[in-house]
Amino acid sequence: MAGIVVVGTQWGDEGKGKYIDILSGDSDYVVRYSGGNNAGHTIVYEDTKYAFHLIPSGMLRKGKTCIIANGVVIDPAVLIREIESLKNQGIETAELLISDRAHVIMPWHIALDNLQESMRGSEALGTTKRGIGPAYADKADRSGIRMGDLLDPEYFREKVYAISKIKNAIIEKVYEGTPIDPEKTINEYLGYAEKLRPYITDVNAIIHRALEESKVVLFEGAQATFLDLDFGTYPYVTSSNPISGGVCTGAGVGPRMINEVLGVMKAYTSRVGLGPFVTEQNNEIGDKIRELGHEYGTTTGRPRRCGWLDLVMLKYSARINGLTGLCINHIDTIGKLDSIKLCVNYKLNGKIIDYYPSNLKELALCEPVYEEFESWQGLDVSRIKRYEMLPEPAKQYICRIEQITGVPIKYIGVGPGREQTITM
Ligand code: GDP
Ligand code: IMO
Ligand code: MG
Repeated sequence: MAGIVVVGTQWGDEGKGKYIDILSGDSDYVVRYSGGNNAGHTIVYEDTKYAFHLIPSGMLRKGKTCIIANGVVIDPAVLIREIESLKNQGIETAELLISDRAHVIMPWHIALDNLQESMRGSEALGTTKRGIGPAYADKADRSGIRMGDLLDPEYFREKVYAISKIKNAIIEKVYEGTPIDPEKTINEYLGYAEKLRPYITDVNAIIHRALEESKVVLFEGAQATFLDLDFGTYPYVTSSNPISGGVCTGAGVGPRMINEVLGVMKAYTSRVGLGPFVTEQNNEIGDKIRELGHEYGTTTGRPRRCGWLDLVMLKYSARINGLTGLCINHIDTIGKLDSIKLCVNYKLNGKIIDYYPSNLKELALCEPVYEEFESWQGLDVSRIKRYEMLPEPAKQYICRIEQITGVPIKYIGVGPGREQTITM
C-alpha cells in the first residue's frame, strides 16, 4: 500500500505538474482529488510543453491509470477539449477514468462566477471565472449535478429544468444578466455525456483495489495550501480543500492509506489573483523574478505577482499538510538575482509572532523579517544533476530552508524539464 500526495505549499503554480510527471514514472495510478479547470499544470518533456487543467499530469506516461476523483468539479466541454488536444499531441487517454460522483460545472456556474466578480467591484476576489466557486457552492447546497447524472438523460433533463429555474431567477433578478436556455443546455451536455460515457465509473472502488494490491497511487493536488477554503487567506481562496486532507474526502481514502506527503514550493513566492502577500515585491525585484521565472498564468495568462520566499507560510504548510518532504523549484531562477532575501519571521507591532494570522487586517500589518543570502549569479545550474555540484551559496540557501521548516528536501528543480531535477 503506497499513497503519495503532492500538494502546493504556497499560492499555486509551484510546479506540482512537473513532480507528478516525474513521480508517475514509478507509480501505477495518478488521481486528481480537488479543484477544476482553474488549475494549470505544466510539463516540459523533450522540449515540448504540455498544459494539464483537468486530466492528471501522469497522462504523459504510458500504462498509468489516470483518475479524476469525486472532489474535482468538471467542465465537460473543457475536459473534451483537453482530451482532443492531447490526442493531437500524440497522447492517448484510454486509461482515463472519471468519478460518477464528481460535480459538473454548468453554464449558470460560469455565468454567476462572472456576474458575482463584476458586482463585487473593488472587492473582487480575482477568480479564474471558470465557475469553480458557484459549482462547489451548489455541491454544498445540494443543488449540484454529478457526472453520473449525465448518463441518465431523463433524470438529467428534470434536474436542469428544476435547477435552471432558480438560477435564472438569480441571474436575471439579482444580477440583471442573460438567462440560461435549459433546452440548449440539455442538448449540449447530453452531447458531452456521449463522448465521456466510456470514462465515467465508480472510481473509488478502483482506487481501493489498487491500494489493497500494494500499487503506488499518486494523489495530484491542484491549487495550494494558501488557496485552501479553510486554511488559506480567506476569502481570497478557491472553494475546495487542496491540502493533503482533501485526499480523504476528494478521493474517498482514509488517512491511514497515505504514506508520504510531498510539498511543492518555489525558491520564491508567486500569487495570481488578489489577496494579501506579505513578501510581495511590487517593484523592480518582483518584475525581475516574473521575467526570469516566466511567471504568467498557465490558465488565464495573467501576470503573477512575485516576491521573496516566505518561510512563515512554509512552516504553516508543513503543519497543515503533515509534509514528509519538500520539492523546491526555480533554484535556477532565484540564483540570477543580485542577492536573495528569505523571510524567516513576521513582526506584528514590533514583536515577532509565532503563527500565521487568519485575520487579513492583521496579516496586512505583518512585516517580514529577512535573512539575506548571496546569489549564484553567472553560474548556470540548469544542467546540474547532483546536489554536491551546486554552488555553495545555493546549498546554503537550500539548507536554511530545510533547517527552518524542519522538512527534508527531497527534490530540487533547476529548470522546467523532467530531467532538470536533482533527487536528494
Ligand atoms: P503547477 O500549477 O504547480 O503545476 O505549476 P505551473 O505549471 O502552473 O507553473 C510552474 C511553472 O514553473 C511552469 O511554467 C513550469 O514549467 C516551471 N518550472 C517548474 N519547475 C521549474 C524550475 O525548477 N525552474 C524553472 N525555471 N522553471 C520551472
Ligand atoms: P494550480 O493548480 C494559482 C486562484 C485564482 C484566484 C483564486 C480563486 O495551477 O496551482 P477560483 O477560480 O479558484 O475561484 O479562483 O484562486 N487560483 C490559482 N492560482 N494556481 C492555481 O492552480 C489556481 N487555482 C485557482 O487566481 O486568486
Ligand atoms: Mg498552475
